[in-house]
Amino acid sequence: MEFPIERFNEKETPFYYYDTDLLRQTLAEINRCTKGLPYHVHYAIKANANAGLLEVIRQEGLGIDCVSGGELKAALAAGFEPHKIVFAGVAKTDKEIRAGIEAGIQCFNVESMNELEVINELAKEYGTKANVAIRINPNIDAHTHKYITTGLNENKFGISLEMLDDVISKALKMDGIELSGIHFHIGSQITENGPFATLCDKINELVPHLESLGANIRTINVGGGLGIDYTNPDGHPIADFESYFGTFKTRLHLKPHQELHFELGRSVVAQCGALITRVIYVKQGVNKKFVMVDAGMTDLIRPALYQAHHNIENITSKSAESDCYDVVGPICESSDVFGTNETLPVTRRGDLLALRSAGAYGEIMASRYNCRELPGSMLKEQ
Ligand code: LLP
Repeated sequence: MEFPIERFNEKETPFYYYDTDLLRQTLAEINRCTKGLPYHVHYAIKANANAGLLEVIRQEGLGIDCVSGGELKAALAAGFEPHKIVFAGVAKTDKEIRAGIEAGIQCFNVESMNELEVINELAKEYGTKANVAIRINPNIDAHTHKYITTGLNENKFGISLEMLDDVISKALKMDGIELSGIHFHIGSQITENGPFATLCDKINELVPHLESLGANIRTINVGGGLGIDYTNPDGHPIADFESYFGTFKTRLHLKPHQELHFELGRSVVAQCGALITRVIYVKQGVNKKFVMVDAGMTDLIRPALYQAHHNIENITSKSAESDCYDVVGPICESSDVFGTNETLPVTRRGDLLALRSAGAYGEIMASRYNCRELPGSMLKEQ
């Protein structure tokens, strides 16, 4: 990724820089791989709701997957058409459900019997039927970090296979519910095709069973989860969509009246973003040197929360010599560390560093802890 350093020098750090050309290329690849197929991709807005990125994503024709009233609002404000918006989330409040019904969204992904009953009641109050997909917890291990695994029995998400028949039968009898499909999401940052193939097999087995209960399954939503290459972002700037969609194409038995829906977040936006931060001090510790930057875990929480590593580049230093540093933020928490034993060109106060692959779950997860300002942003095409 190339960085416009002159523009950076005029902007207060830390901020997120987004390469909108790379985002467009990523979206073009998604569209190329799904062209001519009954596939619809809803961008998981939880990954990043930056208005500039949403504009590009909308222009390229994706819909939105949202999980809160706030996300629904952001999607509508960005101009996404309600019939291209799906609404998931384990504990939607009445207010959020009303907002979805009033906006006329495409579908609610329902995660419990109790929620189904509430949506039914509210839809009847509006004199309408709410389109609903039942989120099923398929009990598949996605082989990813435990904090981002969602499809196991021990997770709070979805309706278990044991309770499914009961929920489906009740949904079919509800006047305020139009049962249109089923929904899954097994986890995030999944870097092998195996778990997705296993999901296809489960769906192939489940659909005829649900049809035998009287359900007409028109949409199958397989969620998101496709991982990206955090260790080599320049080698793999675009995720392997060909093989990801290919797995569903070859493995899932879709009937002519059925559509396949995807909710990709990370793989759409992660590689186009970098967190740009300035070195405040270089500090000699007892056994190590610290590079202390003006971004902290409040700007990018993934390393502190998931032990994630984002590649760190010094984009200012031209030094041919390198040194070994721990790169840390200014927050009063010992988990406020971006990297340990990082080899960087000799780094000085005032240098700019880029933390790569930070377009997903970066800016959107920023907080104001320590009463800090939220990070700003800059688009390549501004
Ligand atoms: N659909 C549902 C129902 C989800 O819960 C998620 C993500 C997605 C789609 C999008 O998944 P993706 O394609 O981005 O993997 N903050 C964590 C990731 C949390 C993911 C939560 N759910 C991180 O920084 O790694």
